[in-house]
Amino acid sequence: MNSMQKKPNVAIDGPAGAGKSTVAREIGKRLGLKYLDTGAMYRAITLKLIRNNIDLDDINALRSTLNRTVIRLGDQQEVYLDDEDVTEEIRKPFVNEMVSPVAAQSVVRRHLVALQQQIASETNGIIMEGRDTTSVVLPDADYKFYLDASLEERTRRRNREQQEKGISLSAEEVAIQILKRDNIDSQRADSPLTIVPDATIIDTTNMDFEGVVNEIIQIINTGKQP
Ligand code: DC
Repeated sequence: MNSMQKKPNVAIDGPAGAGKSTVAREIGKRLGLKYLDTGAMYRAITLKLIRNNIDLDDINALRSTLNRTVIRLGDQQEVYLDDEDVTEEIRKPFVNEMVSPVAAQSVVRRHLVALQQQIASETNGIIMEGRDTTSVVLPDADYKFYLDASLEERTRRRNREQQEKGISLSAEEVAIQILKRDNIDSQRADSPLTIVPDATIIDTTNMDFEGVVNEIIQIINTGKQP
């Protein structure tokens, strides 16, 4: 692909633990697209709200915190909150627990969606993943995917990730957390997780990482979304 050519915009949504981040990052690398983890932005603002003890019902405090906060994602997927590297901090259980209620706040969503759309408009070719990237952030994306997997498989994947970080939770605790987050993310009033009609649904339960990456790349390379 010639560097002056218009590269595609790709949006991937799906529930927690479906493998969106690792898959999107790899596809970004292979196709030369900028990768944007929109969930990391919700996590960063959640960390700031927790640290500042902000009550989610206090809309003015939420708004002024958002206006005073700079969230930046580095080229290696580092996450900066007001220039502090919070890449590891935002994956901790205390953030996991609060991020869905924070992401349900319209004032937070409006702010972050505008930022995500601005990044996309300044970039030639982007792959982003989250809960509303196919429906709200990039409704005109060239390719849209919905990645899913069974609750058992998503629990297994999240458990493995957490164990690698030295966090030990029982499979049952992880499953309960995932279900709680799925529930808030798909039931909220403002831009809930949804399957848009023009998305390709990929059930990754019985697929390996390479299989998922290759299926998506094949669709993008042939230029045809079924
Ligand atoms: O993908 P993740 O687990 O890092 O996402 C963290 C939370 O952020 C998730 O519970 C829902 C929310 N989120 C969202 O509402 N919209 C997005 N585009 C991305 C994430």
